[in-house]
Amino acid sequence: MHKMQGQTGKKRIGSRGSALEQAPSLGEIQGLDLANLKISKTQLEEEAMIQFQAQFKQDLKPRPVPGLSERQINDHFDVKYKGYVAKFNEIQKNLKEADKPKANPNYSGIRELLVERLYCHNSIKLHEAYWQCLSGAGDPPDLIKQMISEDFGSYNAWKEEFKACGLSARGWSVCGFDLDSGRIFNVLTDTHSIAAWNVVPLMIMDMYEHAYYIDYGASVKTYVEEGFLPNMSWNYAARMLNRHPLAQHRTSLLKAA
Ligand SMILES: [Fe+2]
Repeated sequence: MHKMQGQTGKKRIGSRGSALEQAPSLGEIQGLDLANLKISKTQLEEEAMIQFQAQFKQDLKPRPVPGLSERQINDHFDVKYKGYVAKFNEIQKNLKEADKPKANPNYSGIRELLVERLYCHNSIKLHEAYWQCLSGAGDPPDLIKQMISEDFGSYNAWKEEFKACGLSARGWSVCGFDLDSGRIFNVLTDTHSIAAWNVVPLMIMDMYEHAYYIDYGASVKTYVEEGFLPNMSWNYAARMLNRHPLAQHRTSLLKAA
C-alpha cells in the first residue's frame, strides 16, 4: 500500500525550486504506489496478450447429410477442427514468452509461432463457416442469386466455376464478396494460411483430403458432386449479408464505377 508522506517525509523545496519541482507527482496526488502500479501494468500486458482464446464451438457440428457419413463428420469435427482450436490457444499462450528481440525472417521462435498461428486461425474461421455451409439444400435466397447471376451470368455458371475451383484446390474453394469491388469471386486457396483480403466468405467448400477420405477415398470429384454440392446451405451467406450491409455497399460501388 502507498504510504502517504507525513510532514516529516515531505520534500524540501528550496527557495529557488521551480514550480515543476514543487508540484506533487501524479502518484502523490492520487495516493498511488507507483512501484506496485508498474507491476500491475506488466500483469495487464501479459493478460492482454493471452486474453483471446478460441472456442471449440460444439453447437456448429453439422448432422450427417446424404453423402457425408457421421464417421466422416465426427473425424473432421472432433479431431481436425478441435485440433486447430487447441493449437491456436497453445500458440497464444506461448507468444507471451517469445523472444521478440530475436525476431528474424529466416528463423526465429516468434516467427514460427506467428506463422503457425495464422495457419490455425484461418483454419478455425474456414471450418466454422464450412460447418454452417453444410447442412441444407437448395438455391440461394433471391438477393444472393441475383448478385451471383449479375457477376457470373447465371447461378449454374457460378456453380460450375465454384466446383472447378474446388477440384483445382488443395485447400479450399471459397465464394466471397469482395468489399473493394462489390463483386463476387470464387477464391482458390491451397492452404489455410492463404487468404484473399477484404473478402467476406459466403460459401465455403473444404478440399483438404481429411474432409472426404473416409467416405470417398481419393474420389474427390464424387465428394464434391455427392457430398458437398447437394448439401449446400445458404443460411450462412444470408447471415453474412445481414451482418454487413453488403447489398447496399455493392449498389453504391457499382453506381460509382
Ligand atoms: Fe477440414
